Amino acid sequence: MGDGSLTSRALDDADVAAVARVVRTVADEGRWIATAPGTPVEELEARYARLVADPAAHVVVVLDGDAAVGVGTIAPPAPRWPAVLGMSIAATHRGRGGGRLLLGDLLSRATADPGIHKVALEAWTDNAAAIGLYAAHGFVVEGILRDHWLDATTGAPRSSICMGWWPARGD
Ligand SMILES: CC(C)(COP(=O)(O)OP(=O)(O)OC[C@H]1O[C@@H](n2cnc3c(N)ncnc32)[C@H](O)[C@@H]1OP(=O)(O)O)[C@@H](O)C(=O)NCCC(=O)NCCS
Repeated sequence: MGDGSLTSRALDDADVAAVARVVRTVADEGRWIATAPGTPVEELEARYARLVADPAAHVVVVLDGDAAVGVGTIAPPAPRWPAVLGMSIAATHRGRGGGRLLLGDLLSRATADPGIHKVALEAWTDNAAAIGLYAAHGFVVEGILRDHWLDATTGAPRSSICMGWWPARGD
């Protein structure tokens, strides 16, 4: 572990296994992200390896010293779609500015990428930390998808909030 300050940089192939483990721990909390608890780490490694190889994707790792403690992605799922954002900070490292650092880094990359016209995301409606962070960075609420998803663990319906952000390029 490092001196306590977190840093961010583009993810590369050597980070894939470590970020897959971080995302697995966040998924296993069963509260915050759509990835199901117990998702095989190999599946997550394949997901991030694909993203690193995708020229349309921006993937950023948050580090405590040399250790990966968070990851975020902005990637269009298909041509002409808005880019979709997802991010996770390990529970051990929340509340230390890593989320702010990660989101700022991702949005700088999105602003510099002329292929991105909009960044869209969904958060569970009870995820106050994430919604507050996104709003503080200029995301606006576009609507609620009411009882839209089924919880990966309980099967109960869950609602999500849709938020959008548009790069300011002075055009
Ligand atoms: C959401 C998440 C990325 C925030 O990362 P973090 O490192 O804990 O956040 P930071 O320390 O950078 O705090 C940044 C901002 O987030 C908001 N925030 C953080 N924790 C909060 C909390 N418990 N309640 C309300 N707002 C909170 C605040 O706006 C804060 O800014 P401020 O310190 O200026 O008030 C992190 O909690 C996380 O990974 N959660 C689990 C996965 C997840 O929810 N991903 C998003 C799915 S849509």
